[in-house]
Amino acid sequence: MVCVDHDPVVRVHNTALLATDDRVVSVQADIRQPQAILEHPAVARLIDFGQPAGLLCVAVPHLVPDDDDPEGIIAQYRDRVRAGSHLVLSQFGSDSDPDAMGELRAVAAGTPVETYFRPRHRIRRVLRRFRTAAARPDRCPGVAAGRHRSHPAEDRRASAGNRDAGARALTSN
Ligand SMILES: C[S@@+](CC[C@H](N)C(=O)[O-])C[C@H]1O[C@@H](n2cnc3c(N)ncnc32)[C@H](O)[C@@H]1O
Repeated sequence: MVCVDHDPVVRVHNTALLATDDRVVSVQADIRQPQAILEHPAVARLIDFGQPAGLLCVAVPHLVPDDDDPEGIIAQYRDRVRAGSHLVLSQFGSDSDPDAMGELRAVAAGTPVETYFRPRHRIRRVLRRFRTAAARPDRCPGVAAGRHRSHPAEDRRASAGNRDAGARALTSN
């Protein structure tokens, strides 16, 4: 597993907490530079692109500015992994549950980081060439509304109650 974050402090924390054996590496890099990441020595060592891979883009795409072409960035990772790979992606929605999004906007407004809320049709565009996994065949709308949970106690209650996850698993065609 390769954990990527551009923040040096996050890299240090990931190294201490996640990189507990030599099959897990924390790399400091910017996801907006897919080629640099895909060619990184740690990626070359740990990820076998001849096999299906898992690509987790969780709680990051909404931090990528529109001008940086988030769809194009995800497409470069998508095009590198082989069929049968899985993508998990979450993105703040501009046309999701207004109460939940209002809460997120309030949180985002209190930080120095610009946050980009995007409509479903743009998120679907990012997911082109993937098909939705039938994790919940009864409720599988393609792009699923997630829940924002800001408190660990609420996280624990949600896990216990097995509620909807914030992101939907997808598998490439
Ligand atoms: C909300 S956290 C999510 C972290 C992790 N994906 C998770 O789900 O726990 C967002 C992280 O994205 C990182 N980040 C923001 N923009 C980035 C970029 N362009 N490249 C790499 N990391 C970025 C931030 O440093 C921050 O650690």
